Amino acid sequence: MKKLGFLFFFITVLSSCEKYATERIQEKSVSPFIFELPAWAPKPVIPEDNPLTFEKVELGKMLFQDKILSKNNDLSCSSCHNKNLAFSQNIALPKGDENAIGFRNSPSLINTVYNKNFFKDGGVKSLELQVLVPLETHFEFNLSVAEAVERLKNNEFYNSAFYEVFGNEPDVFGLTRAIAAYERTLVDFSTKYDKVIFEKTADFTMEELIGFNLFKANCVSCHNGINFTNQQYYNTGFNENISDLGRFRITRDSSDIGKFKTPNLRNVAITFPYMHDGRINTLEEVIEHYSIREEVGSKSELKPMKFNADQKQQLIAFLKTLTSSKYVN
Ligand code: HEC
Ligand code: HEC
Repeated sequence: MKKLGFLFFFITVLSSCEKYATERIQEKSVSPFIFELPAWAPKPVIPEDNPLTFEKVELGKMLFQDKILSKNNDLSCSSCHNKNLAFSQNIALPKGDENAIGFRNSPSLINTVYNKNFFKDGGVKSLELQVLVPLETHFEFNLSVAEAVERLKNNEFYNSAFYEVFGNEPDVFGLTRAIAAYERTLVDFSTKYDKVIFEKTADFTMEELIGFNLFKANCVSCHNGINFTNQQYYNTGFNENISDLGRFRITRDSSDIGKFKTPNLRNVAITFPYMHDGRINTLEEVIEHYSIREEVGSKSELKPMKFNADQKQQLIAFLKTLTSSKYVN
């Protein structure tokens, strides 16, 4: 009951904010933000009502790292989305305001600009709307949007920065747009995989190559595309614990109970622990989970796969080629 009330609360907050999107699109900052993308990379779609400007991205970055948005001034977006961990977190479930524990693992935000929707249940449609969720959630920042805006207005630096970027005082419109704009710039295509496949400036080792072939045979039906996700929802055999109903929370379709979005696998070697609730600690255990798919009564949509010890290591060697050069020593 409590959970439903919570969800309803968000739907109300989120839909009441839709109107901000259309009220005004006039902005003051002008220097265009230049994306440094390789020619072969897909062009990110930037919404027309939130053009990327250098000033706005800088403001968004500051807000992302600032504890001013949390009730007790002790958490920022970076607390759970750490740039040294590809903007993820190495604990299973995050701690929010007053150490309240969240119920899902903090995902990486690298290349999140390519997502059609957000969260492991796909419940949020844009990065702008997403910003409101951590703000108001009691186990994250636990601060009302109105209070957050009030704090920014009373802060000399942010007050003038908002005037510089948006031509007016801090408001929800600017707060959500600045952070979303910054998140859209968190793009990376510097992995060994990119060098081998797209730039042809490196070669896989034999182990990585065999792993890649195993991956193509067993995994790409779901982990495909530029970020290794088809952005669809599946039950991958974690149905013994349905405290998190997954995609069902959004669709109310009982066939969606326990389904979660296929995650982006870029940087997966450093974004442990894994799965929606961080229940799996290592890539070895992930492959182990995929190797034993024949239990009776499982609602898993995974086809049975069996990997011997060598094949498990080969798959892991391949997965390690998906790490950004920033995080490879
Ligand atoms: C207490 C930890 C915590 C804090 C603080 C936090 N997040 Fe998150 N974030 C999460 C978790 C957990 C999820 C996954 C939620 C889900 O899937 O339901 C998430 C998901 C996201 C996503 C969706 C990514 C995707 O591709 O689906 C974005 C974007 C995001 N957070 C941005 C932010 C921003 C911006 C802030 C600050 C305003 C923030 N987060 C603060 C834990 C946190
Ligand atoms: C039927 C679709 C499907 C197939 C096939 C599949 N996966 Fe997944 N994979 C998923 C989903 C969905 C999740 C997220 C489950 C969750 O959040 O509980 C996931 C999670 C993962 C994770 C954890 C990532 C993270 O950040 O939590 C890894 C690693 C992974 N898969 C690798 C593989 C490999 C390797 C294969 C092939 C051997 C494979 N997957 C095959 C759908 C699939």
